[in-house]
Amino acid sequence: MYRFTIIFVILLSIYTEQANGGSFFLYNQVRHGVLMKVHCKSGDSDHGWHVRKYGGVYGFDFKDHILDKTLYWCNIWSGPDFNRNASIVVYEGKLYEHRNNWIRWSVRGDGIYQSINGAQPWKFKYHWYGSL
Ligand SMILES: *[C@@H]1O[C@H](CO)[C@@H](O)[C@H](O)[C@H]1NC(C)=O
Repeated sequence: MYRFTIIFVILLSIYTEQANGGSFFLYNQVRHGVLMKVHCKSGDSDHGWHVRKYGGVYGFDFKDHILDKTLYWCNIWSGPDFNRNASIVVYEGKLYEHRNNWIRWSVRGDGIYQSINGAQPWKFKYHWYGSL
């Protein structure tokens, strides 16, 4: 019984941990056949380069800083030869009313749209640089 309780408490804390994180996700919705490349960073982390096909998603969750200091930004490339790009702030703790937000980005042909905590409709946020 004691052992069961320990396992239960561990599972509960793993679950709570995930439910309490902030997160962001970037969806490649540019166009069929067009890849999206992303490189995301924060002040103390570099998440490397990742490529996603049309319909794919890149993102992760993280511990949201208690003093609203969480800040993640990404460079995104798309189009033929990745000749269009955008530098976007994907998660900025101080902008949101509470912690542990779920921020989604729809990366599209005409720009990059945001949805915070499932809000609809998607809001246009960033233009692309570079030619099509
Ligand atoms: C973004 O595109 C512009 C215009 O094509 C280019 O000058 C710039 O170097 C690109 N930036 C990155 C980070 O690739």
